[in-house]
Amino acid sequence: MATKKLLLLPGDGIGPEAMAEVAKLIDMMNTELGAGFETEEGLVGGSAYDAHGQAISDADMAKALAADAVLFGAVGGPKWDGIPYEVRPEAGLLRLRKEMELFANLRPAICYPALAASSSLKQEVVEGLDILIIRELTGGVYFGEPKEIIDLGNGQKRGIDTQVYDTFEIERISGVAFELARTRRNKVCSMEKRNVMKSGVLWNEVVTATHKERYSDVELTHMLADAGGMQLVRWPKQFDVIVTDNLFGDMLSDVAAMLTGSLGMLPSASLGAPDPKTGSRKALYEPVHGSAPDIAGQGIANPIAMIASFAMCLRYSFNMVEEADRLEKAISAVLDEGCRTRDVMSEGMTELGTGAMGDAIVEKF
Ligand code: NAI
Ligand code: MG
Repeated sequence: MATKKLLLLPGDGIGPEAMAEVAKLIDMMNTELGAGFETEEGLVGGSAYDAHGQAISDADMAKALAADAVLFGAVGGPKWDGIPYEVRPEAGLLRLRKEMELFANLRPAICYPALAASSSLKQEVVEGLDILIIRELTGGVYFGEPKEIIDLGNGQKRGIDTQVYDTFEIERISGVAFELARTRRNKVCSMEKRNVMKSGVLWNEVVTATHKERYSDVELTHMLADAGGMQLVRWPKQFDVIVTDNLFGDMLSDVAAMLTGSLGMLPSASLGAPDPKTGSRKALYEPVHGSAPDIAGQGIANPIAMIASFAMCLRYSFNMVEEADRLEKAISAVLDEGCRTRDVMSEGMTELGTGAMGDAIVEKF
């Protein structure tokens, strides 16, 4: 197999602890499958700031742009709370997203059978759940101009954010949704609020047109985003792929995340546009959780979110679908056997530390 260049950015707190478990998998896949992963490591977040005063250096940024995929741990922690805004740990992640143009954020909500009983919803509602939320990540109200607080001079101030979407942004995010749906159950539900937002009207039009022109084999439905939130909690299994804007996607993906249990279980991927020559996409894979300073250094962090992010990397960056399936099944099998890290521990289960959980998954692969 051809060489696959991975940049590992472990970051801060439990980031490096979780990344170490992925490194074990990479070593194993190189030795046993001749997978041909070539890894480099870089600094990001607080640890980068401590080393050179930036949340990510130009050199590491260049490595990220040159890599086939970036694996990102987590950044931040109380140690860096007081440092200047421009170099705060999160600035490293934001720079990566911006310069790699990662406009599509993929958040699967998968309910492992072994954890269905501990969901806050009824077991039958979440058991076997496997949906994918695709959030537009580089446009919308988080970036639109004007964005400011103005003083009205009468003792009042006005806070302004602007929701802006252009046709090409909606076309490319819906293209990702339709393409991924084809590899799944072939269904896309697009969510906006066309009843009260002009950008929602355009969103609906462009998704409909993109579907008609290029993806009419995929089943497309539309839902108002607030109703979508309700439906996600009422009967989430009705969905396959959900595509939505930056703001609604932020909220809906967090709602969907909690259907399935702990923050320590949730992976994500952020994809850029395909290279016109090679067809390959820039991509960054990261767990949804942060650096968990409250448990960092204790060897008790759940590495599954990071490992499942690596499974997404195999699937979406390297088309190693069979290996991705095997890795996800290995995670599921280890949970079926009753192995748990402390965050998902329940009575009668066996508690494992971070390293032992990683070993168990490598063993099952
Ligand atoms: P967090 O996700 O780091 O932690 C929230 C809670 O979940 C904590 O009690 C933590 O112990 C637990 N938790 C999280 N991941 C876990 C895992 N893998 N295994 C076991 N337990 C886990 O969010 P929090 O506490 O709001 O933020 C902590 C720091 O992380 C802050 O500096 C924040 O800015 C940063 N952060 C970074 C993110 C990133 O790098 N993408 C995302 C979210 C927060
Ligand atoms: Mg959020």
